[in-house]
Amino acid sequence: PRKIYMSRHGESMFNVEGKIGGDSALSPRGMLYASKLPELIKQNLGDKDLIVWTSTMKRTIQTSSLLDYPKMHRKALDELDAGMCDGMTYEEIEEKYPEDYANRDEDKFNYRYRGGESYRDVVLRLEPVIMDLERQGNILIIGHQAVLRCIYAYFLNYRQEDLPYIKIPLHTVIELTPKAYGCDEKRYKVDI
Ligand code: F6P
Repeated sequence: PRKIYMSRHGESMFNVEGKIGGDSALSPRGMLYASKLPELIKQNLGDKDLIVWTSTMKRTIQTSSLLDYPKMHRKALDELDAGMCDGMTYEEIEEKYPEDYANRDEDKFNYRYRGGESYRDVVLRLEPVIMDLERQGNILIIGHQAVLRCIYAYFLNYRQEDLPYIKIPLHTVIELTPKAYGCDEKRYKVDI
């Protein structure tokens, strides 16, 4: 059976600093994850074909760099755009834009960052990606927290209001095997 693998990029410098968005490079730990990923995938998949999809951001491309498979860098996989809040920490947002912070907490799925996106917006822009995923063979998506929540929620039938809280940890490969109804799931955590 064909498999859909998904992983967040390795830890980025912005992850270390607690900042959201941006286009930062991987941290040393993130690089270590990138270096361990090929072996994990190989052990799992053997000699079967795989296509790797990343976003157009540095941190996902860097994470994919040692994987010896065809790659596609898709803009539709870029992280949720935090607009005016891009590059800030959650504490800074709470201090500078307390109302926005509260509104997001109130309805995280529908809240749209000023000059940016909501989870609902991301679900819409992912539609063509999900259509492709339904048709393809084995795919590994190296993506971002919010984007992977949307894709995961689609395959596991999560409700909209729960989607923005799904746990997609760093340095973990999620393996989905689509079934007639729903998906089987396994998670592989890389200890770094
Ligand atoms: O912190 C990493 C990150 O991918 C940010 O770039 C993004 O804004 C955030 O996670 C999305 O998670 P949440 O919707 O929970 O803020």
